[in-house]
Amino acid sequence: MSSTTKTIMITGGAGFIGSHVVRLFVRTYPHYHIVNLDALTYAGNLENLRDIESAPNYTFEKGDIMDEKAIHALFEKYQFDAVIHLAAESHVDRSILDPLAFVRTNVLGTASLLNVCRNNWKDHMEGKLFYHVSTDEVYGSLGEVGFFTEETPYDPRSPYSASKASSDHFVMAYFHTYHLPVVMSNCSNNYGSHHFPEKLIPLMINNIKNNQPLPVYGKGANVRDWLWVEDHARAIDTIFHKGKVGDKYNVGGFNEWKNMDIVHLLCRIMDKKLGRPEGESAKLITFVKDRPGHDLRYAIDATKLNRELGWKPSLQFEEGLEKTVDWYLQNEDWVRDVTSGNYQKYYDEQYVKR
Ligand code: NAD
Ligand code: TYD
Repeated sequence: MSSTTKTIMITGGAGFIGSHVVRLFVRTYPHYHIVNLDALTYAGNLENLRDIESAPNYTFEKGDIMDEKAIHALFEKYQFDAVIHLAAESHVDRSILDPLAFVRTNVLGTASLLNVCRNNWKDHMEGKLFYHVSTDEVYGSLGEVGFFTEETPYDPRSPYSASKASSDHFVMAYFHTYHLPVVMSNCSNNYGSHHFPEKLIPLMINNIKNNQPLPVYGKGANVRDWLWVEDHARAIDTIFHKGKVGDKYNVGGFNEWKNMDIVHLLCRIMDKKLGRPEGESAKLITFVKDRPGHDLRYAIDATKLNRELGWKPSLQFEEGLEKTVDWYLQNEDWVRDVTSGNYQKYYDEQYVKR
């Protein structure tokens, strides 16, 4: 697939993971035309893509995946060969406050996008691909031992994971019922640059820097399996080009950490970088009320992706975390714009007023 010309729609390309995927594809495949379709919700930030926005093989289209008519018009305009679907509501805490927003975007939005693909590709499915990017959270919560494999039954427990699980089922339903060529991956927690500071790692970095309390839910004993976002983008590239149609792949770093241990590690890294006495930042740790239905542990078995397609993570967590802290310290403007809401003016300045 990689040596031929392709026109690919990447949805959610202005978000955290999507921007890394867009950048990787735009740079690696100059003969592909990458169209980034994003509604620019609070999580979409075109500043994430400043470095590639003038690339000749990149186009931004503002739009909502739920708007079937508008997406259909884009299919007519660009004649897409493939869709890489990342657009979603992605934050568990927000899903607890407003579950229906997650049903709308993640379930209805995905089903709507699948429908547009089916209608546009139905007479020539050959060579087309709908790649659905999903999460390990659909598998539910593990106890102290064990891993999620591709065969683990779905057992979502938050409105976020329930909506993602539902979207995964629609993807497979379109494969079985309409023979839509699909592939899917379920990835563990990502970290890295351009991560919206509502999620654990960027929130802690920002609060440590500003001497704000570090809110640890419950006892901080929950475990997540962390993967550097650029390794996830590479996995998506690998699966997009080499994955088997109709199949799914788990993506993870074999890298489990208790929340408390991450927060302590970040405090130690940042004490050094900010020239604070050792132990100073850890004084900011504050235990707060636990998240309702808080999943205890996620851990991905990514053996299949390694064995069948040869992908493996490139970075050790400690190294990746240092790189991430450095990025946040060196990109104060990005953090300031995100926390002040200024970044939402960027679209108007860049795309509307010109
Ligand atoms: P994000 O919240 O940072 O970005 C989501 C993007 O989707 C934003 O740019 C937003 O504007 C856009 N969007 C939201 N609703 C839309 C709509 N209705 N129409 C068009 N665009 C819309 O999310 P992320 O963390 O980058 O996650 C991307 C995908 O990867 C999601 O599908 C998520 O479920 C999945 N995932 C995330 C993680 C993680 O650790 N963040 C792990 C595994 C899988
Ligand atoms: P998060 O980054 O929201 O990802 P997810 O819930 O999708 O795994 O949270 C990661 C873990 O950190 C999760 O166990 C909840 C916990 N957490 C805190 O303890 N404090 C916080 O302020 C946040 C945002 C998360």
